[in-house]
Amino acid sequence: MKFKNYIPKILLISALLGVLNTIPVFSQTGSELFIENRCSRCHTIGRGRFVGPDLLDISKKYNKQQVEAWILNPEIVYSQTNKKPYNPGYPPMPQLDVSEHNAELITNFLFNNTIKKQKENDGVIKGILVNESTGKGVVGNDIYLKSFIGDRLTDEKLQITEADGNFSFNNLSWVNSYSVKIKHEGLEYETAKLVFPPDKGFIDLKLPLFETTEDSSGIFLNLNHEILSVGEKTVSIAEIYDYENRGNKIYIGKPGDDNKRNTLKFYVPSNSINLKYVEGLDQENVVRDKNIIYDSSGFPPGRKRIVLAYEIPLEFGKNEIKKEIVSDVSTLLLLVDDAKGKVDVSTLKELEPVTIENKKYRRWTGEKLVSGSGYSITVTNRALSIEYIDLFPIIIFGALFLSVFIIGLITRAEGSGANSRNSLLARREELIESIIELDIKFNDKKIEKKEYKESRLKMKGYIAEIDKLTEDIRYPHNDTE
Ligand code: HEC
Repeated sequence: MKFKNYIPKILLISALLGVLNTIPVFSQTGSELFIENRCSRCHTIGRGRFVGPDLLDISKKYNKQQVEAWILNPEIVYSQTNKKPYNPGYPPMPQLDVSEHNAELITNFLFNNTIKKQKENDGVIKGILVNESTGKGVVGNDIYLKSFIGDRLTDEKLQITEADGNFSFNNLSWVNSYSVKIKHEGLEYETAKLVFPPDKGFIDLKLPLFETTEDSSGIFLNLNHEILSVGEKTVSIAEIYDYENRGNKIYIGKPGDDNKRNTLKFYVPSNSINLKYVEGLDQENVVRDKNIIYDSSGFPPGRKRIVLAYEIPLEFGKNEIKKEIVSDVSTLLLLVDDAKGKVDVSTLKELEPVTIENKKYRRWTGEKLVSGSGYSITVTNRALSIEYIDLFPIIIFGALFLSVFIIGLITRAEGSGANSRNSLLARREELIESIIELDIKFNDKKIEKKEYKESRLKMKGYIAEIDKLTEDIRYPHNDTE
């Protein structure tokens, strides 16, 4: 234990760098589209049977048009062949909402025949743990590999880095997803989920390490955007925080009462429901204590964006939402869509309204707000009680969509749209899942046809907007507005 004092206090960040190295985010190869459009959740190419058939020799079985039909709408195949499922022993393939352009690119990729048949469970996740201050590999540090099927953790393996900081997990199943977790000085860091690209048998990570500090003087909240849309039964709120660590060490906060360290904190009204960590926060690393959410993850040098969303149920008449400032903030901006209910805001200054994506938003702002101050938002609800439709994604999606849109604007100016793009794609997945849920509800006669059609159309509209937007982020314009 004694010699521990000689080790510089080092920590590493979630291996964002490594992940970005392995999954290029701006180019769109067939292999990436295969992952992004969820094909890889059900199919392998040359790695054996999964939920659906192996697609290795698909060009021998079908022509391109037939494969595109499968991708665009399997129901076409089913009605033409009068067989559902078509391949005995498999469930039917669901419809996926892939654009024609992407279906063509994926088909070309499948017809390329560059992928060879591979051995079962032959995947490798390897990498190196590097001390960013010395540039040297870190020896003897614990590295865990977590395996998942869907969101379910199925296995956890431990390794210790070798002399040069290297590690390598071999013989991994192709169809699981993985994350790499590092424990150091009592703190844990974890990469985003990793999957094997269909055309590459290994994932190579570079996990950087920084020294740690408990000193918060380098931590700044540059901006807090809050987007509020009034609905008929609830108010949806999305909050974006743009934090910056201007120091050169990982900020780890001080140990709290429960001995868990906390770094950043966020205020959430106590009557909020459906709280979602959209970006930058991880359920495992947060503790909620009444109105405050504490994040316990380390904060490496650089920017960190956090997006969370929730709803507040509305009662008939006046509803007051109290907001407290819990961290000093340079600029607070509140955008309000109050088409469905009047909104008043105390303390903050009202600006001219803006129009974003054909919707008008009222705006309020505050500069240099200090911890301990606050403001309140009053929403007057005149809607008569309407059955609350339990389709969370549609209700809150408007606010989320806008938050991501604004993030797109912010990040475009900074030249890094990777995170917002990922969170958009995650939303896209959720929407597709909600459409499937909606279809099931309709089939089970749990909702009316009119409502079903309207909701489905709305969700498809959002998907189309995401596709448009991610294209925008992928190929950034030069203008900065
Ligand atoms: C939710 C799981 C799932 C997803 C996601 C999925 N598929 Fe499928 N797919 C299946 C299943 C199951 C079958 C077999 C269905 C049948 O035989 O009726 C299938 C069949 C196919 C077939 C025909 C295979 C054959 O041998 O006849 C092709 C081609 C195909 N899928 C391509 C894709 C592509 C490309 C994607 C991504 C855009 C994709 N699938 C996404 C489950 C899925």
